[in-house]
Amino acid sequence: MTHNIGDALENATSEASLAHSRQISQKIEEGIRNDPSQFRALTGDRPTGNLHIGHYFGSMQNRLRLQQAGVDTWLLVADYQVITDRDGVGPIKDRVLSLVTDNLALGIDPDRSTIFAHSQVPALNQLMLPFLSLVTDAELRRNPTVKSELEATDGRPMSGLMLTYPVHQAADILFCKANLVPVGKDQLPHLEQARVITDRFDARYGRPEGAKDRVFPRPQGLLSEAEMVLGLDGTKMSKSKGNTIELRMSADETAKLIKKAVTDSDRHITYDPVNRPEVANLLTLISLCTGRAQVAIAEEIGDGGGGTLKKMLTEALNEHLASFRARRLELEADQGYVADVLHRGIARANEEANATLDQVRSAMNMVY
Ligand code: TRP
Repeated sequence: MTHNIGDALENATSEASLAHSRQISQKIEEGIRNDPSQFRALTGDRPTGNLHIGHYFGSMQNRLRLQQAGVDTWLLVADYQVITDRDGVGPIKDRVLSLVTDNLALGIDPDRSTIFAHSQVPALNQLMLPFLSLVTDAELRRNPTVKSELEATDGRPMSGLMLTYPVHQAADILFCKANLVPVGKDQLPHLEQARVITDRFDARYGRPEGAKDRVFPRPQGLLSEAEMVLGLDGTKMSKSKGNTIELRMSADETAKLIKKAVTDSDRHITYDPVNRPEVANLLTLISLCTGRAQVAIAEEIGDGGGGTLKKMLTEALNEHLASFRARRLELEADQGYVADVLHRGIARANEEANATLDQVRSAMNMVY
């Protein structure tokens, strides 16, 4: 493949900045081990569908780990972000509650973590106004994540919200002064944008009278070390392709889906992610469930072929998810409790957002 100089520069820069982000993530992990109380983490999910094992092994286990390590953890249900790239909200209420249910079943403890939906927090949304004044339209149009999300919509025109949602996402992070954002690398441009906003806010408006700290911290991304899990057909996991296993599915449904998983014609199972991505991915899933190395699992299966591999994955995954699923069923039967957790989180988020907006008004001399 040939690249022009511009592409080459862009790739070099983004690889260098990815390496830099990895270094920062390592420092943060050290910081968490030394003193978790110096961090407030915020992470968000768009309620566009049901969570699946890709989310589970990627972001969800990571957020649980942060909570268990003693980091004050905030979980945002980004309901307004649903309408960035689609018309209408879909069955939003069910999806929001399903997301809260998944998090509780995972072990998120509402006494230690705060879970809320940003549509219910007016002062958070109001931060969007001063923040919008701090960014340029050229900056927003350059955002690579916005660009690729727009491309994925097959010719949809850019909406005002699509263009500016990274600014809204900065408000998501900054309203509660989160300084730690566990994310995948696609979200790094949004974090950079959030840092630019806090720096410009500080440069332009300074601090409320008498305050010694800036209003907003500079949030850093914490890249998850979890391996990327592919779908059951070896391609990118996505609900629309039907190649994933949703967390709310039963053990039987899981078994059926794994039976249909793609392998290859070589009966001898080896761990070779480059030449045998489908087989390697199934081995990785077993490894994530059992904690055993992929190579050791492959050796054990040996000439057992794809059938043995799938049988092993079915057992490992169903066993691994058994307690999650049991808790999920209990919570499904107690949706009053789930709604109550959400309402408590929203109340807490409003307190924080109102206090932050007061400081913003004070820094901007808009207290009358
Ligand atoms: N954009 C994120 C996603 O698509 C979701 C999100 C919204 C988020 N607000 C956030 C993530 C704030 C981290 C911090 O997955």
